[in-house]
Amino acid sequence: MNNFLNVKMLEFNSIGDERGKLVVCEGESDIPFALKRVFYIYGSSGNVVRGNHANRKSEFVLINVSGSSKVKIKDGKGNEMIYFLNRPHTGIYIPAMVWKEMYDFSADSVLLCLSSEHYNQDDYIRDYEDYKREQNG
Ligand code: TYD
Repeated sequence: MNNFLNVKMLEFNSIGDERGKLVVCEGESDIPFALKRVFYIYGSSGNVVRGNHANRKSEFVLINVSGSSKVKIKDGKGNEMIYFLNRPHTGIYIPAMVWKEMYDFSADSVLLCLSSEHYNQDDYIRDYEDYKREQNG
């Protein structure tokens, strides 16, 4: 299950000195695409599941800049993988056409989401059966 759906964890350089730490996520280098959109999710309690969708074109990098959460990835063929995000200098890269669920948010979770595309409702597949159909042809 290495390289499951080309999802991968990213380690960013954390530049630290006596003043604290600084993490840079530059498009097309640290992040494997040019950024068009940033949003972040906070205030989600531990029992909610967010996401629950795949995107036809958008790629994402998710970073828990504070706290922690989990990301479940599904391929529409019965395989899944769970990733734990708990460090401000670690992200997960999620390519297009990957089903994702975010859950287990800590009370202090701030989940920063970087996207390759502007928001477009038509890019979202929100029904898992539709995802399976599009994924499996
Ligand atoms: P939703 O897709 O449910 O968020 P998540 O999958 O991360 O839990 O989005 C919640 C609402 O926010 C929904 O009405 C769409 C809106 N929204 C935007 O307007 N722009 C955006 O970039 C995003 C991510 C969501």
